[in-house]
Amino acid sequence: MTQLHGRDFLTLLDFTTEEITFFLDLAAKLKAEKKSGTPHNTLKSKNIALIFEKTSTRTRCSFEVAAHDLGMGSTYLDPACSQIGKKESIADTARVLSGMFDAIEYRGYGQEIVEELAKYSSVPVINGLTNEYHPTQILADLLTVREHFGTLQNKKLVYMGDARYNMGNSLMIGCVKMGISFTACAPEEYFPSKELRKKCEAIAKETGAKLCFETDPEIAVKDADVIYTDIWVSMGEPIEEWEKRVKVLLPYQVNAGLMEKAGKNAVFMHCLPSYHDNKTEVGREMGEKFGLEAFEVTNDVFESDRSLVFLEAENRMHTIKAVIKALLD
Ligand code: CP
Ligand code: NVA
Repeated sequence: MTQLHGRDFLTLLDFTTEEITFFLDLAAKLKAEKKSGTPHNTLKSKNIALIFEKTSTRTRCSFEVAAHDLGMGSTYLDPACSQIGKKESIADTARVLSGMFDAIEYRGYGQEIVEELAKYSSVPVINGLTNEYHPTQILADLLTVREHFGTLQNKKLVYMGDARYNMGNSLMIGCVKMGISFTACAPEEYFPSKELRKKCEAIAKETGAKLCFETDPEIAVKDADVIYTDIWVSMGEPIEEWEKRVKVLLPYQVNAGLMEKAGKNAVFMHCLPSYHDNKTEVGREMGEKFGLEAFEVTNDVFESDRSLVFLEAENRMHTIKAVIKALLD
């Protein structure tokens, strides 16, 4: 029995396997309805506040389109143009917004900020990315894997690169919750924290998921169904980090050679945005600085038939819609 109404959505650690499955099933249903033109605007007269302290394309658009499709209103709050932080505390903001909105989305820095928001808010708070976690992304990733392979059972996902940040942490949690084998492949200092690993090991024992931490890419990707990576320097991290990251993470780049060593039917996934070429301002600047044409993934892999990245991006909207509906309907 799933009890999701009125809950916060801060990390997948707070949800059971059954509840995560419920979100995925609901997202699949809403996706089919959207494709067939069947309206599902059941949340008319409800409103959601969208706070973004970091930039976004997918998450913001997903929340806005999802809210619109559900019949809701949405208000985007950019801290540069609001009182948040500089003139008004998170606790006060939470209480002000709770009086006007039916839910609050927050994207920003430390997980403790979204927790503080949830503590003082009387309406559900949804984490749209913090330094530590990115739980709505993981629902999209799980839906994408399930759509592609028809099942999540007996799947192995390998996360390459910076595994100690929001994406590595959250994918580890999502995989162990759903019984998917998860391997973090990185230099040891980029493995998820010991504390989180311990929590995930306990969950893996219950679900039967295998959890591995590997420094050798060739060993890690053996029999993998999904090779996943993310940018090496995340939003909010100092630009000076690039030098060190390129040096230590280049051996973990996802390229055609590595994909060859994975399972025969292995697919490539990435939360995006990605530095797979030098067509972005940062990609160009860093590409010139380090003499590289791509960083965490090469362009041929990104553009290949094995790449699910744009399906994954679309699924952000369907899964975010499922979260809003499950918490509010
Ligand atoms: N994957 C993701 O969260 O993308 P945005 O930063 O564009 O929202
Ligand atoms: N690790 C990345 C994820 C972007 C969706 C970041 O935090 O910038």
